[in-house]
Amino acid sequence: MMKRSLLFTALVLTFACKGEMTSTSTSTSATTETTPPTTTVPTTTAAGPCGTTTTSGGESKIPAVAISGNMPLSVPVPAQINSPEQVRPDFDWYSWEEFIALNWPASTTGRGNADQPGNASAFLKAPNGTPTVWGTYKANWELFNQGDARPTPFDSYDVHIPAQCSAGKPGEKRLVMSSKGNTVLNDGVQAFSFPLVDASRNYIFYEVRYGRDAYDFMRGTDADPKSWLYLAKNLSPPKQQTMPSTTATPAHVGAIMLKAAWRDMSSVPAADQSRYYVVPAEVYDPGTKQCSMKSVGLVGFHVVQKLQGFGEWIWSSFEQVDNLSTPQRPGMLPACTDTNCSQAHGFSNRPKSLALEPDPTKRVPVNAARLNPIPTTPKGASTLDVNATFQKALAGTPWAFYELVITQWPTSDKGFKPPEDRGTYPCASGIPFPQDGAVNVALETYFQSPNDANGAGGNSCMRCHYNAAITDFSWGLNRRPH
Ligand code: HEC
Repeated sequence: MMKRSLLFTALVLTFACKGEMTSTSTSTSATTETTPPTTTVPTTTAAGPCGTTTTSGGESKIPAVAISGNMPLSVPVPAQINSPEQVRPDFDWYSWEEFIALNWPASTTGRGNADQPGNASAFLKAPNGTPTVWGTYKANWELFNQGDARPTPFDSYDVHIPAQCSAGKPGEKRLVMSSKGNTVLNDGVQAFSFPLVDASRNYIFYEVRYGRDAYDFMRGTDADPKSWLYLAKNLSPPKQQTMPSTTATPAHVGAIMLKAAWRDMSSVPAADQSRYYVVPAEVYDPGTKQCSMKSVGLVGFHVVQKLQGFGEWIWSSFEQVDNLSTPQRPGMLPACTDTNCSQAHGFSNRPKSLALEPDPTKRVPVNAARLNPIPTTPKGASTLDVNATFQKALAGTPWAFYELVITQWPTSDKGFKPPEDRGTYPCASGIPFPQDGAVNVALETYFQSPNDANGAGGNSCMRCHYNAAITDFSWGLNRRPH
C-alpha cells in the first residue's frame, strides 16, 4: 500500500517535470504531453567559475523515493550534465536517502549498524525516540577527550565520560548505554561563534559524531602509534590527510562525519512533540555545572559522506520545519522584527558572551530569519519540491517534519589543493555548488551573511571547512587533537 503510493508520487512528479520542460522549451504551445520534446532545446552557454562552462536546459527530475536503511553509495546523475543546477534534484535525493539511512533504527549489535535495513516498516513504524544508526556513532569526545587513554574500538561503549558529567554516577557505561543513542550534550556554543537561545530561553546543544571509517582513520592502528591522529604531535608538521571513500564492491559506506543540534523539549507544547525526533539525553547545565537527564528534540543535522569521486565530500544539511516562527506557528526562534535582522544578518539579539548564562531569566531569545532561501530551482525539481516528495513519503513519522535546507557538492574532482599549498577557494576546492550561502539556521545562525561569516571562514559549508582542507575538511580533526 505504502510502496504503491510512493511510486505513484514519484511518477506524477517525473511527468509534471517533463511537462514543464516541454512547455518551456518549445515556444509553440503550452502542451502538457508527457513525452520528451523532439525539437532541440534552445540552450545558452555561460562561463562558470574556474574556467568551466555551463549550459542551460537538460532534464531535471526527482528520482523515486526509496525507504531503505542502506546508505546510498552514489548520486544518480544523468549521462549528460549541462550545469550543476540541472542535477540538484539528484544530489538532494541523495541527501534525503542518506538522512533516512542514518536515522534508521539502530541494531543492538555493535555500533552504527541498521536494524532490518531492507524492511521499510522498520523505519516507518519505529516509535519516536528509537535509537538511530548515527546516534550510535562515536561522539567526538570519545575520540579526542580520553586523556592519555587510547580511544576504544568503534563498536565499544566503554569510554571515559567527560568529567562534568560523571560526578556521582557510578559505572560510566550506564550513562552512555542506558538507552543507546543517548548523548552527553556538552557543547553549547556554535562553530567559531556564540550560543543560541531559543524562544523559551533554553540553550540549543550541539554534538559531533563520526562513522566507523572516519573514526578508525583518526584513531589509527594499535601497531603504529604515529597513526594516532587524535594526538596533536602526529599532525605536525601538517600533511594532507585523506579519509576513505565509498567502494561499490564490496559495498562500503566510506567516511561519514556529522553534527547535530538539539533543543530542550520541556517548553514545546504537547501537540507539537510528535513533530520532532525526541530522545532522552544527559545534558550539561551551566547553572549546576552537572549533567542531568532531559528530553531533547532534533532541530538541525549536518552530514558529510566521502563518496568515490567527491574528494571534498558531499555536504547535506537538514532542519526541523518549526525552527523559525511563522505567523501561523510559534517556532524555536522568534521571527525577526526589523529589516536589519531579516535582510542583512538573519539574526538579532545574539548573546554578548561566549560563556553560557546560568540564570535562564537573564538570557534573551535570539530572533532569526532565513537569509539564504531553500533553493527554488530547477523548476519543478527544486529542493523545495524534493522536500515535499520525501515529506509525503514519510507522513506519519517525525521525519516528515524535517526539511533539507541545502546540498553543497564539489562539481569537479580535479585540481584539489589545500590552502597550505596555495590553493584558493573555490577553484582548488572542487568548484563547489552552490559556492556560498549554504548554512543552517540552527547551527550557523550568525554566519548567514557573507559579511558576518567573513572572519570565521565564510558562509557556506565548503568555504569555511576548506580552511581545514589539510585535515580532510574536518574542523574537529584540525582543532581537537591534544
Ligand atoms: C564558519 C565556519 C563553518 C561553516 C559555515 C560550517 N561549518 Fe561545519 N564546522 C565548523 C567547525 C569549527 C566545526 C568543528 C566543531 C567541533 O569540533 O567542535 C564544524 C564541524 C562540522 C562537522 C563535524 C565534523 C568535523 O570534524 O568537522 C560537520 C559534519 C559539519 N561541520 C558540517 C557542516 C555543514 C554541512 C555545513 C553547511 C551547511 C557547515 N558545516 C558549515 C565550522 C563551520
